[in-house]
Amino acid sequence: MSDIRGRDFLKLADFETAEIDDILKLAFEMKREQRHWSLKGKTIIMLFFNSSLRTRTSFEIGAAQLDAQPVVLNVGQDAWNLEWQEGVIMNGNSPEHIKDAAKVLSRYGDILAVRSFPRMQSYEQDRQDPILSSFSKYASAPLINLESAVEHPCQGLADLMTLREIFNQNTRGKKVVLTWAPHVKPLPLAVPHSFLLAAAMGGCDITVAHPRKFELEEAVMQQARKIAAKTGGNVKVSHDQDEAFRGAEVVYAKSWLSLEHYGRMEEEFAYRATLPNWTVTEEKMALTSRAKFMHCLPIRRNVVATDGVLDHDDCVVYQQAENRLHAQKALLVKMLGES
Ligand code: CP
Repeated sequence: MSDIRGRDFLKLADFETAEIDDILKLAFEMKREQRHWSLKGKTIIMLFFNSSLRTRTSFEIGAAQLDAQPVVLNVGQDAWNLEWQEGVIMNGNSPEHIKDAAKVLSRYGDILAVRSFPRMQSYEQDRQDPILSSFSKYASAPLINLESAVEHPCQGLADLMTLREIFNQNTRGKKVVLTWAPHVKPLPLAVPHSFLLAAAMGGCDITVAHPRKFELEEAVMQQARKIAAKTGGNVKVSHDQDEAFRGAEVVYAKSWLSLEHYGRMEEEFAYRATLPNWTVTEEKMALTSRAKFMHCLPIRRNVVATDGVLDHDDCVVYQQAENRLHAQKALLVKMLGES
């Protein structure tokens, strides 16, 4: 059994597949309510630089179910804006530096957890996850990534748990399609990256389907291929959505932005207007092998996927959302150890 106490949980690829499996084994025990797990006396401090429905409520409720104290700070509302740049003269809008906030919060909390979306101007800068990296550098308490520019590892945990449920624990070789979908906004790469890594840890036969110019980050693709080589999985790319859907057993839809147009939204949307329709429809799902439909939520109905797909019995998005609770509770217990 692995020991992850004291470590940050920032990216799935920082962990061995066996360590992730170990967390999920506990998550399944928790979902079956086999016994009561207690983190009495522990405090989980969450900072949200961006809004959230699932992540915030599942962590707050999960912490309370474990007898721990959750503290939620919405940055810009409950806490003021934090500066992250080193050596800056702080005569602007941010009255406190992350360096100081992280050190103070580490004296109050046993775990810090941070959500910070990218600024979407420079991917080179965003992929360094400057806010999360600053917390990691200065906090003495372990840190959880609640979604950043590059990864959403808690979503990835719940997604792998859901894949395991769909396939009765045996995910190896299962045909899983991660498909790009349209959206009204350019969205970060975090969820598709984490799902890809999670499915690779599950040993799935993965097809990433997207229009040209919507490649995922090459470093993450390489990590996924490396993991898949060890788990018996496989990672392919297709630019033909219908072809990718044929015979699929799971379809995971998500919109993400184009790295080629990063920071140039108007250019990206002009390009998107030239594409065929990538919305997931019942007609497209009919090409699959009765695939389960997955999405992290929130979802724009009839933009990303139609009502017919979302309201179908084969849609497992609420099961996925519920699994956030079990997977994160297991993560907290593994990171802190029981009292
Ligand atoms: N999937 C997810 O992280 O949802 P929220 O943005 O509502 O937290």
